[in-house]
Amino acid sequence: MTALTLSTSSAASLRADAVVVGVAKGPKGLVVASGAEAIDQAFDGKLAATLETLGAAGGEGEVTKLPAPAGVKAAVVLAVGLGEAPADGGGHAAETLRRAAGVAARTLAGAKKAAFALPVSGAQDTEAVATGALLGAYVFTSYRGGKEKASGAVKEPLAEIAVLGGKPRDKAFKAAAERAITVAEEVNRARDLINIPSNDLFPKSFAETVQAAAKEHGLKVEVLDEKALTKGGYGGIMGVGQGSANPPRLVKVAYTAGRNKPHLAFIGKGITYDSGGISLKPAGHNETMKCDMSGAAAVFAAVVAAARLGLDANVTGWLALAENMPSGTATRPGDVLRMYSGKTVEVLNTDAEGRLVLADAITRAGEEKPDAIIDVATLTGAMVLALGDRTFGVMANDDAFRTAIHEAAGEVGEASWPMPLPAELRKGLDSPIADMANMGERMGGGLTAGIFLKEFVAEGITWAHLDIAGPAFHEGAPYGYTPKGGTGSSVRTLVRLAELAAAGELF
Ligand code: BES
Ligand code: ZN
Ligand code: ZN
Repeated sequence: MTALTLSTSSAASLRADAVVVGVAKGPKGLVVASGAEAIDQAFDGKLAATLETLGAAGGEGEVTKLPAPAGVKAAVVLAVGLGEAPADGGGHAAETLRRAAGVAARTLAGAKKAAFALPVSGAQDTEAVATGALLGAYVFTSYRGGKEKASGAVKEPLAEIAVLGGKPRDKAFKAAAERAITVAEEVNRARDLINIPSNDLFPKSFAETVQAAAKEHGLKVEVLDEKALTKGGYGGIMGVGQGSANPPRLVKVAYTAGRNKPHLAFIGKGITYDSGGISLKPAGHNETMKCDMSGAAAVFAAVVAAARLGLDANVTGWLALAENMPSGTATRPGDVLRMYSGKTVEVLNTDAEGRLVLADAITRAGEEKPDAIIDVATLTGAMVLALGDRTFGVMANDDAFRTAIHEAAGEVGEASWPMPLPAELRKGLDSPIADMANMGERMGGGLTAGIFLKEFVAEGITWAHLDIAGPAFHEGAPYGYTPKGGTGSSVRTLVRLAELAAAGELF
């Protein structure tokens, strides 16, 4: 794991493999951002000109490496683009700093230590740089052979990050660094879980991982196994999991701040592998389906983060874990399941399994009368078609709550968009033999899935649904602080929501 410290050293005097500086597009060409003054001096004021000679323009995502001149203790100067220079007196947006720091940290994989001399003015900027750097440094190497590692073909994450420009002894800066470390480590915990292949991460092993972390962080865990789920009438979770040799689990993991505190319930879709079941997914659609537990990973990570941050709110996570497989014991299209709520559901398509496990968890979570329920799920391909692979959809039974979630996500740099739950789509879920079907019209499929879930929310409970099917798993080239593979999408939003709840600013 990457270590992070704040340092008062000058950018020129810190011994490191590299010193990271920011460059931006100014009206008259490349400008060196604040924080890099000492480095520019070592270049006799010609850092911008030198970088321009090398083709640097300051665009976002751009990196230029050059050997450090005499007077700079780091071996290399790494200039990272920040995009347009802000108007006079303004600073760069937090997300610009996070992404630039992420790009630099990723580029420096394999190195021991880097100093980040990016433009920061205040604890919030320092937190942004620290968060971006720690997220960008992430590398998943657990499944790489020792030989490849030894030969250097696989680079270990940048080992140590020193963020310059802050006040390490100041309370606000200390808190900022601690928050950055906690949040980034928890996002990276979610990423690890998502990246672990389904032959190693299945409901039982996931539940055991939660139990181990709970012990470490003082969380309360309850695990319902297949026997308890059958006895308890969890027809949705059992119906999805019954075709697999790896039976399902419902995991409750709770952080308790005290009585009469705001109470948030987070529910995560935890399909450790989604083959589609008897409605089998074709090749081309199943290669990344180990990621179908990203919601559960995010919820688990957010609960641990809430505990580590000691937030003044009770946060309960519910992980609905199952493996969706075709077999002689699998649910057939046309079967009717009796859900935990008592409702019956005709399973028209076994690939619409997420809503079935979530429905049981939503009913169960509602019994504890939390102030709000938020479920997180890689639920529909339709949401990916609608919003692309960087933005998650937010649906809710309360418009103000939906707006609050969209805004909280924006604050932490997660792209989201409010989506409606049009009442007319409900009739598409009518079944000729059961209370509901698990699939409706193809058009607006992401919204129909939301409408299905809404049917399981108890009267009077504020509820929202985040469909993270797009951003949960990144197949393209890494960008900013986002790696290939599991991204940890929504962890930071959930943590921010728990903070807002704790501050009495959410409801
Ligand atoms: N896990 C998938 C959704 C998904 C798609 C996640 C792409 C990540 C990337 C989900 O269980 C699913 O298969 N949904 C179906 C529902 C349909 C059968 C109503 C879908 O979206 O096609
Ligand atoms: Zn599916
Ligand atoms: Zn699924």
